[in-house]
Amino acid sequence: NTEKNGKQQSLTFNEIPQTLDFAHHFPVGYRADILLRWGDPLHHGENNFEPEKLTPKSQQRRFGYNNDFIAFMPLAPEVLSAQGHIHLRSKNSHRGLLCVNHEYTQPHLMFSGYNNEYSATQGVTADHVAIEQAACGHSIVEIEKGKDGWQPVTDSPYNRRITATTAMEIAGPAAGDARLKTHQDPSGTEVLGTIGNCAGGKTPWGTVLIAEEGFGGAFQGNPELIEDAREAVNHRLFGIKAENRNWGDYDRRFDIQVEPNEPNRFGWMVEFDPYDPQSKPRKLTSLGRFEHEGFTLVCKPEQPVVAYGGDDDEGQFVYRFVSQHHYQPDNPSANWQLLTEGTLYAARFADDGNGQWLPLIYGQGPLTAANGFRNQADVMIDTRRAAAMLGATPMDRPEDVETNPHNDCTYVMLTKNKKRGSDNLDAANPRARNIAGHILEIVPPGVKGNRDHSSASFQWQQFLLGGNPNAENPAERGAYGQQSHYDISSHGWFANPDNVAFDPKGNMWVATDGCERFGFHDGLWAMATEGPLRAAPKHFFGCPRGAEVCGPEFSPDGKTLFIAIQHPADARNSTYDQPLHRWPDNDPKLPPRPSVLAIYREDGKEVGS
Ligand code: FEO
Ligand code: CA
Ligand code: CA
Ligand code: CA
Repeated sequence: NTEKNGKQQSLTFNEIPQTLDFAHHFPVGYRADILLRWGDPLHHGENNFEPEKLTPKSQQRRFGYNNDFIAFMPLAPEVLSAQGHIHLRSKNSHRGLLCVNHEYTQPHLMFSGYNNEYSATQGVTADHVAIEQAACGHSIVEIEKGKDGWQPVTDSPYNRRITATTAMEIAGPAAGDARLKTHQDPSGTEVLGTIGNCAGGKTPWGTVLIAEEGFGGAFQGNPELIEDAREAVNHRLFGIKAENRNWGDYDRRFDIQVEPNEPNRFGWMVEFDPYDPQSKPRKLTSLGRFEHEGFTLVCKPEQPVVAYGGDDDEGQFVYRFVSQHHYQPDNPSANWQLLTEGTLYAARFADDGNGQWLPLIYGQGPLTAANGFRNQADVMIDTRRAAAMLGATPMDRPEDVETNPHNDCTYVMLTKNKKRGSDNLDAANPRARNIAGHILEIVPPGVKGNRDHSSASFQWQQFLLGGNPNAENPAERGAYGQQSHYDISSHGWFANPDNVAFDPKGNMWVATDGCERFGFHDGLWAMATEGPLRAAPKHFFGCPRGAEVCGPEFSPDGKTLFIAIQHPADARNSTYDQPLHRWPDNDPKLPPRPSVLAIYREDGKEVGS
């Protein structure tokens, strides 16, 4: 441990500087290996990646685009069955399934011939649309740690792609509802594909949860022409408009004039079993429909499962789900029903530091026919409208919401909200035109290690305010640490928290999305959540220009940190033909490629300390 102003620092790595260039950066004494890149083959029979020869069929057998959330799901060496919970209990940190989201595609950086990011979304060819659909969704890849570090296991029977066309079940209270029925699916119970897969979570029974966030951009059509006025409002709320990209020209269900209910089948959380490659994913309508960042769980034996999530849009809400049934560690088949039956709540943050969970239950309070809710399916399909009517607190873009197992408190990443007006401030969202974001701490009732996450109320406080602690404008000034910002170096501050992870010691690792506007790369910052250096960050990793870091995920032993570098070289006028840079290959024949890195210490000890 090192001393910092007389305070014990358990994060002993050598902090890196804030920079802005075409490389990635990490502390001395560490390795950062490129583990998986867009286009890497997941099965034998595929050649090395040659982007100009890519076909939709081949993309379905390769790692997808714009990697985001990462879940490391251990594989127990001695167990071959598909029972996830058995594998998870092994805590094997040398072999596992890396489950990786692919949030969205960028045709102007994937294909030759598109001029710039603004025109590229128009007029993409049928083949390119099909490749994009195959490059979205999720990858499940077996990986193994050998003498030379982590390697993907090509052709593992577990390797699988889930794409924008994979068949999935619709489960929970909205399944089969009239508003989910389409020509292709008159039952309203089966949907093709998942898109906008941002962050997610994992369960102790061995499944993975992935979010559907910005799905609206994949749909084209004019909401004003929809006969049902309520659906028109609903579609507008998710950014569906005539000038959106043109998937609908070739896959007609993405045109709301052809299939007005299809958008109602997106905007959910998806659960799947990565240990069974034949299993059918399902959309959990019990967790509501909005621009899901992700949902993360708190599971205690013989208690209800609690899941926390955010709706990543300006003025949207923080949510919590409490299962009706109890978590039974030894009964995985019973646990499969935990997330389909229960109650969803939206958060109200009172200015005095108290908070309340407001239940979204049809028939209660304003959630009645008089306000256009026919049943619980309506409450779930129109979650945003329901939560607003209940009086939930509009937040500054809630991204990851995750609980630190060490202190049993829950942390809310609020990335930014330029639309926050000075006439609309509250203690939970205290800054007008919030450009730097902040992090809230939710403290459920009870003592450390035994807090009641299913309680109707909680307490909360600000954990940190993003931004430069020395900013001239006091409204933009960051606030870190218990007394002052002097506990951090000049590189220790950041802005725009997005994803978060906790290492096995309980340190918080924050991934950012937006720091380039402050003059330096996005990256990772690590800090304690307890003790004298609480909320005093140190800078650990920096991205190549244009990119953000997503999905920080530790191996169970804390010795590997997996991160996803999303949208490298995403900048004005940067295209496939003339990219800003060609990270990570720096090969003139290859474009920039979103990639997953495995970071570890050269001496093999735990990352961070
Ligand atoms: Fe896809 Fe909320 O970041
Ligand atoms: Ca993103
Ligand atoms: Ca995100
Ligand atoms: Ca983001």
